[in-house]
Amino acid sequence: MNDIFLKACRKEKVPYTPVWIMRQAGRYMKEYRDIREKYSFITLCKTPDLAAEVTLTPVKKLGVDAAILFSDILILAEAMGIEIAFNEKDGPLLKNPVRDKSSADSLSIPDPEDKVPFVMETIRILRNKLEGGIPLIGFSGAPFTLASYMVEGGTSRNFTIIKRMMYQNPSLYHTLLDKITKSISLYVSSQIKAGAQAIQLFDTWAGILAPEDYRDFALPYTKAIIENIKGTSTPIILYINGCGGLLEFMKEAGPDVISLDWRIGLDRATQRLGKDIAVQGNLDPCALFLPPEKIESRVRDILEKAKDSPGHIFNLGHGILPETPVENAILMVEAVHKFSKRPKTQDT
Ligand code: CP3
Repeated sequence: MNDIFLKACRKEKVPYTPVWIMRQAGRYMKEYRDIREKYSFITLCKTPDLAAEVTLTPVKKLGVDAAILFSDILILAEAMGIEIAFNEKDGPLLKNPVRDKSSADSLSIPDPEDKVPFVMETIRILRNKLEGGIPLIGFSGAPFTLASYMVEGGTSRNFTIIKRMMYQNPSLYHTLLDKITKSISLYVSSQIKAGAQAIQLFDTWAGILAPEDYRDFALPYTKAIIENIKGTSTPIILYINGCGGLLEFMKEAGPDVISLDWRIGLDRATQRLGKDIAVQGNLDPCALFLPPEKIESRVRDILEKAKDSPGHIFNLGHGILPETPVENAILMVEAVHKFSKRPKTQDT
């Protein structure tokens, strides 16, 4: 079995730097576009055999060191009672956003095996198919990011609606976030029980918060989820897009790995985080539009910057873009493996 991804999460010695790509199953791949001609995105998410197939395609094609469950962070919002439409052009649209106490009260805290059995079934199929191969990462949106979709009603520019709720009606905000936090805790625990070997919490939009607001309105909830699964020895990765102002607070949340976006040097981030936590990242997704030799030199640069980090998992700083040439993703994975290879010692 190739467990070097899990080893790197635990800051153990590895023979080379493991790599996977956020959104590795997606529209930049012809195989994905072909399957999407036949099925909607939501059908893929809810049909375990298809979701498993879509998860495994990039694994074979790219040679990555971890698989990530094919699903979406909004599947949980739907299970809580929000109606969602995945719109090709505008991204996801939530039809009944939470704006008052009665809509927050009407949300449920779903039992995952009952309300999203297809997610757990997909995980079980994948563990079976991946046996002897690479580990499977499960995931969830983190509380703030999930709340931002549930309150704003979709992707937002200034996040004015949720920020106003935070400032003007903190008790409603806290009621909602408490419910979301309980739902996520159950959701990730079930994923671990079903076989997920690591969990990534995506707090994609938390970077729009001032550090004090992150501390007061996002961190306590993320921390509660991490505390809840700490006992399981399953590594937890925390991702924020725009993490530069929040690193110290992210560490306080207690994850095993901090996943960095590309706007901060990995060496600088490691200096701030200290030597007791692993990092993931952090190539700019747009760097995959560079010519091959420049992609290689960007990879080498990040590997060099990671040399003082106690554990490093190579990744992009955010999801791979649909326009990315697939051969450049393959080249990146090969470059990470080639340039990070360490001489064999007895303990690796
Ligand atoms: O990483 C993977 O390969 C696993 C699958 C995965 C998807 N979404 C599939 C997806 C994961 C981990 C996510 C998480 C997710 N979803 C996040 C957090 C990570 C991030 O990218 O910031 C967020 C914010 C969402 C919400 C979401 N889902 C948006 C904003 C969109 C529309 C934008 C887009 O890229 O199309 C989606 C749809 C979505 N989720 C697609 C995929 C493959 C595209 C749907 C399609 O096939 O048309």
